[in-house]
Amino acid sequence: MTEETTQKATLLPDYSGLSDDQLMEMSGREFADAVVERAKLWAWDVIDPEKYTITELDPDEMQQVRIKWAERHAWMEWWFGVPVPAKQLVLLPNEDFGIKLLLSQQIIDEVKHQRLLSRRAAALGGSAKIERYVPEPEIVANAPEKMVDSESPLEIAAALQCTGEVIVNENTTSRSVLFRVLDEETQQLFVDEIAPDEIRHIGVGVKIVTKYASTPELRRLVLKIQGRKFLTTYPRYLVDYRRFGIERTAPEPVVDGNTEAS
Ligand SMILES: [Fe+2]
Ligand SMILES: [Fe+2]
Repeated sequence: MTEETTQKATLLPDYSGLSDDQLMEMSGREFADAVVERAKLWAWDVIDPEKYTITELDPDEMQQVRIKWAERHAWMEWWFGVPVPAKQLVLLPNEDFGIKLLLSQQIIDEVKHQRLLSRRAAALGGSAKIERYVPEPEIVANAPEKMVDSESPLEIAAALQCTGEVIVNENTTSRSVLFRVLDEETQQLFVDEIAPDEIRHIGVGVKIVTKYASTPELRRLVLKIQGRKFLTTYPRYLVDYRRFGIERTAPEPVVDGNTEAS
């Protein structure tokens, strides 16, 4: 029996069987908090160092992997962090002016994150120019630019602020297996400069879901989008970790009773 088969999969809260009435028993805010909480539970499993083995790379190889990681994540800060909330900002009506202001702050923050990581990439010996970065296949498969195809600020919030950003935020803490392999200065960058902003971005998503996930159908849609995001993020994370010599030994967390969110 392999090590993987001896570990039990984490079962996430299963909302797929809830009736319309049960789904609507939660207030908008309670529902939004439940969505964020489920993303945290998923992330805590996927970042858990106990669920991986780490093979030490030789120092030169490790340096190259760290450079590429910083370049890749600088690029992602911009692609996920700028056009996507900008689309939400444009789509939301003027009555949501408060949320629009928060989204403009998010865009400022994400540009700052991109620049910090670009500078870090250059300090490690790589390039600060994200326009020169060529996305790897697992990034192309997740195509962040496709997220701006959506015409719904709610659907974007379900995928971005209430799922993707929750996962990134957990992945860049000392609890994450990633912190066993990143250099100390990059770790410090996340702790001091990036993580405090991410909490605010998740808060913007909570406001959007609280207001707009107002029917059972819309709540099911939010949950379905989140389930899909888990499924597409999982292989991307495993590839990202594998470059550092980190191999998963546990099964994928189970969402809504199955691993095939449809
Ligand atoms: Fe960010
Ligand atoms: Fe963010």
